[in-house]
Parts: sequence; structure tokens; C-alpha cells
Amino acid sequence: MRTQVVIIGSGPSGLLLGQLLARAGIANVIVDHASKDHILGRVRAGVLEEGTVRLMDEAGSGARMHAEGIAHDGFSLAFDGRDHRIDLFGLTGGRRVMIYGQMELTRDLMDQRERAGAPSVYEAESVTPRDFEGDAPHVAYRKNGIAHRIDCDFIAGCDGFHGVSRRSVPQNAFRSFEKVYPFGWLGILADVPPVDDELVYANHPRGFALCSMRSHTRSRHYIQCPLGEKIGDWSDQRFWDELRRRLPAHHAERVVTGPSFEKSIAPLRSFVAEPMRFNRLFLAGDAAHIVPPTGAKGLNLAASDVHYLFEAFVEHYQDRSNAGIDAYSARALARVWKAVRFSWWMTTILHRFPETSEFDQKIQEAELAYLTHSSAAATALAENYVGLPF
Ligand code: FAD
Ligand code: DHB
Repeated sequence: MRTQVVIIGSGPSGLLLGQLLARAGIANVIVDHASKDHILGRVRAGVLEEGTVRLMDEAGSGARMHAEGIAHDGFSLAFDGRDHRIDLFGLTGGRRVMIYGQMELTRDLMDQRERAGAPSVYEAESVTPRDFEGDAPHVAYRKNGIAHRIDCDFIAGCDGFHGVSRRSVPQNAFRSFEKVYPFGWLGILADVPPVDDELVYANHPRGFALCSMRSHTRSRHYIQCPLGEKIGDWSDQRFWDELRRRLPAHHAERVVTGPSFEKSIAPLRSFVAEPMRFNRLFLAGDAAHIVPPTGAKGLNLAASDVHYLFEAFVEHYQDRSNAGIDAYSARALARVWKAVRFSWWMTTILHRFPETSEFDQKIQEAELAYLTHSSAAATALAENYVGLPF
């Protein structure tokens, strides 16, 4: 088989790129090692920047998102038993975020792709990008015991942090930068009404807590937990009790409990691989970088990479120019590092770190106080949270 672009990975970045390319008349095949149901079962992110919303529209997949997503104009920072609202809309000249789950976004893109008749291969084994250093790359895989290869012009590695694309690049061809945080997030999903109309990010002596949502009847909550914590040790009751302890009283009183139908622990990490292009292989999304979830940037960064990569491919095929392709890595990384900084900073001011010195604790309190007393500080937070321009 031959196509123009083979996309490895059918997560948000691969699906979004595939849909944009298909609409621009650029042939592409998506190859993923997981099953469709498995991919659709991943809960993960829930906050979309306006740029991500725009890309979903450009991909022709935004209708349900606009009907069911919830626009948010602000969120609450809770500490010292009180709430401090960050007025995203007012501080950024009218910008906002959209609450819409990664599961739903993935489903919309997959449905649209199926309707358009664009090819996807699921449950492919031993997927491998090959010969991307030269002019004739291909992707090899096995399915039902049979070996396949797809010849192409370019390979897009959209296969997440543990994917094969970055691992196929010689170690000495890239540099990586990493920071691992000494805690994780325990998250649950439950069909109970949200704690508040907006998200609540809480800094508490017992640890960070986040009250989020997927709809007016479905809540997504997280609490900071020590590394090595076992999910089996966290009954729903224990989770709800711990969440309530970390919230100001007026929020704690409004927590409606109920059985969770998803519960998982995610480690927190910052990671960047540089560059993001290796001749005819391009990395996008989690394949190239990971941020801790505190600033809700992971999925949105995947979308901004896709924006730059899509523009580069359009320039190549329609304008016969490789300028976008040559600039892709530098353009994407410039935005990536700003989001890496923001996510690290949000993590630092909101979590309790083991063995924090009294000095560090005082600095954290001063950071939070500054945010609530200075509109310049709050504006810096708001413009990063709603998303820096592409
Ligand atoms: P992925 O979603 O990881 O998709 C990669 C795809 O590649 C998958 O479908 C996978 O099956 C496929 N693949 C992997 N390896 C191979 C292979 N060898 N061969 C073929 N296919 C392969 N972000 C937020 O903003 N907020 C959050 O709350 C949040 N929570 C998260 C919780 C967890 C547990 C994780 C892991 C991430 C979370 N993120 C969150 C980050 C966000 O979900 C990711 O940034 C986003 O999924 C990135 O999309 P992607 O398409 O680049 O990668
Ligand atoms: C969600 C996750 C985040 O990391 C965040 O900062 C806000 C919301 C969520 O899953 O709803």
C-alpha cells in the first residue's frame, strides 16, 4: 500500500492531524496498536483551549463539542480555607476555555474519520517506522499474523509517551529534558453533580485537590497522592472523605458522593525531546513531550503541534515549499517550552512537596497571595491557562 502520510497513533493528535489532512485532500493512514474500544475508554483530559476548539471545527468535528461542551469563564483557586476566583474572561479580553472530555473529542474525530472513509488500522502489532532518514520511508506492522508495509512521503509519530516513534530515533540524534515529581494524581469519575459551576484548584496542607467535571451531572475529581500508592487501597468512601478535607468548608458541604466508575493514578512528569523532526519522521503530542496535568495543557499542546505540522504538510503539497517542514520543530518547541514552564509552575504553587523547607512553604504562600492581590500576576496565569497564541 502507498499513501502520502502514515500517522502512528490514533489518540487526539493522530486523529486530529488525520482529519485535517483528509479535508485538505492529503491522503493518510492511521495505524494504532490498541483496539478502538480501548482508545475510546481512556478518560484523561477535560479542558480545551480556544485554539483546540478551532482546530476541531477546522477538522469538521466540532458540532457535538459545541452542543454539549461547557464554556468556562473562570476558575477558583482555593487556599487558606477561602476561594479566589481567576476571571479568565475579564483578564484576557474575552477568552475562555471549554469543558469537553478527551473521550468525547476522540469519539467525534473517529466517527468523522469513518464517515469520510479514511483508512485506520487498529490492533496492529509491531508497528515500526522505517527508512525515514532517506527519501522513501515506510511503516511496517503485522496484523492477524500477516506482515504489512505502507510506503509514504512522511511519517507522523503521534503515538504518545510510550510509543515506538521516538524510540526508533537513534539516541544520539536527540536530547531529552525531564523532571519527575514526587507524587501522583488519584482521579475518579462519578455521575454526581459538580461541586461548583467552575473548576476548583485547591492547595491544602494535606495535598492538592481538583474538582472538575464533564457535564452538569458528571464530576471528575483528583487528589494528590504519594508515589507508590495502590488504587485498591482507595475505596470510594476514602476518596470522598479525603477530597472534602482538602476543600474550603463551603465547597466541602456541596460535595455529592456516589459510586465512581473510573479510578486511576497518574504519575506527574515534565519531559521534552528535542528536536521534533528527524528528516521524514515528525513527532507530535505526548510522543515528544509530557507535562504534569495541573495546567490542563497536555491535550492542548498535542493540538498546537498538529496545527504546525498540518500547516507544514499543506505548504509542502499545495505550495511546493518545505519552509514549514524545516521550521516545524523550532516553531512547535517554542510553544511547548512555554507550556512546560506554566505546567511546572502551576504544579509547584499548588502541591505539597515532601520535605519542603519552611522557606519553600513561605515562598509558595507568597506566590498565592501575589496572584490574589496583583492583577498583573493573575493576568499572567489567565493568559497561559486559556492558551498562548499558536
Ligand atoms: P495519546 O493520547 O497517548 O495517544 C497515542 C496513541 O498511540 C494511542 O492511541 C496509543 O494506543 C497509540 N500507540 C502507542 N504506542 C504505539 C505503538 N507502539 N504502535 C502503534 N500505536 C501506538 N492532559 C490534560 O490536559 N489534562 C488531564 O487531566 C490529563 N490527564 C491525563 C491522565 C493520564 C493517565 C495520562 C496518561 C495523560 C493525561 N493527560 C492529561 C495528557 C493528555 O491525555 C495527553 O496529552 C493526550 O492524550 C496526548 O494525546 P496524543 O494523541 O499525543 O497521545
Ligand atoms: C481536568 C484535568 C486537569 O489536569 C485540569 O487542570 C483541569 C481539568 C479534567 O480532567 O477535567
